[in-house]
Amino acid sequence: MPLPTFFAYVLVLASLLISVEAAKIPSSARRPALSCSSSSSSSSSSSSSSNGESSWTSSSSSSCGQCTGGLPGTLTYGRNLLEFQYEDQPKRQHILYLPKSYDGSTLLPTVLGLHYSSGNIDSIDAMAKLSDLAERHNFVWIAPQGGVTFKNNQGYAWNIPFVPTTDDSNIEGPVLEDRKYLVALLQHVQSNLCVNTAQSYAMGHSGGGRMSSSLVCNPEMSQHFAGIVASSSLQAGPSAGPDYAAPLAVGQANACNPSHPIGIVALHGLADQTNPYDGTPEDGTEDNKKRWGYSVQSALAHWAELNSCDLSSNNTVEATTATDGPIIHRQTINCPDVDITAWLQDDLPHAYFDINRADFNPGDHWWDAISKFSHEPQY
Ligand SMILES: *[C@@H]1O[C@H](CO)[C@@H](O)[C@H](O)[C@H]1NC(C)=O
Repeated sequence: MPLPTFFAYVLVLASLLISVEAAKIPSSARRPALSCSSSSSSSSSSSSSSNGESSWTSSSSSSCGQCTGGLPGTLTYGRNLLEFQYEDQPKRQHILYLPKSYDGSTLLPTVLGLHYSSGNIDSIDAMAKLSDLAERHNFVWIAPQGGVTFKNNQGYAWNIPFVPTTDDSNIEGPVLEDRKYLVALLQHVQSNLCVNTAQSYAMGHSGGGRMSSSLVCNPEMSQHFAGIVASSSLQAGPSAGPDYAAPLAVGQANACNPSHPIGIVALHGLADQTNPYDGTPEDGTEDNKKRWGYSVQSALAHWAELNSCDLSSNNTVEATTATDGPIIHRQTINCPDVDITAWLQDDLPHAYFDINRADFNPGDHWWDAISKFSHEPQY
């Protein structure tokens, strides 16, 4: 048969197989999808290595991953320092990390690792040891740079709608659109690498976790993520005035409005003074309350509502065994498609969990919790 007919035939066959597969698995959100669908979105952007000599450019509008075997173009295993341009924004650097298990034929999950305010592209790997986790658990990670630049090399922050930055007077240059940038960067990676579009997760600490939360509160952007991991920063949309003690109610303008159930993992210190567990920082200025108004439990309850969870399943147990370290509690809420997990550590200030603790490796725990979830973007 002629080539176009052959491709149409293969497409029909593939979609038939996909629908049969979907019909067999009622709770498809818990299973990694093995197939990937083509996408109508396209990226006109390109990346090049930071010395500008070599480049790898998106040649396809498919979001299906490019599984051509081996490593594409000029990329290496481990850390690649790359640049990506979104529309007419200035180019920005990011790190793209490929684990040794990347073979160009197995679709790997992707983690978008988002730094804290005043951090940079190195911060989240330094803090959460994403490189070690990626080798242990076989995922690709991307660490981009926020679109808010602080003066005097004091790092970057994320431009999160409805959330004031930590230090407005200290900003230099233009504040760039970040959420669309992050989705475009993710799609760029998906169209160049052998990654599973149904297993993309955003994780971050503080401002990075707030940004992760914001990405999945937008109906279009949430399509690209199966779940998030928020360290010291879980949000469920903007807080409602006048006291900012609760998220905007479901259905209100600008309220959190994900397109599908979102896997939620939170880590939080019970002695956090910056984003206090019980809400409202000590320095309760208007900006601080807008940035962190409601409690971690309010955020979890709101996600439970959005994910149609069974709140009577809300349960907390001790997750640590050592008697010489602070207790970490594990809270779970069961939901039809995804679950909600929060790890809460006694005495911990505004910080990531201890990565050297023998009886609790935070990364292994959040990866196990989040990687169960998958969502194939629907356009
Ligand atoms: C879950 O239960 C704990 C302990 O009973 C309670 O403090 C918390 O507010 C509950 N969380 C939600 C989201 O219902």
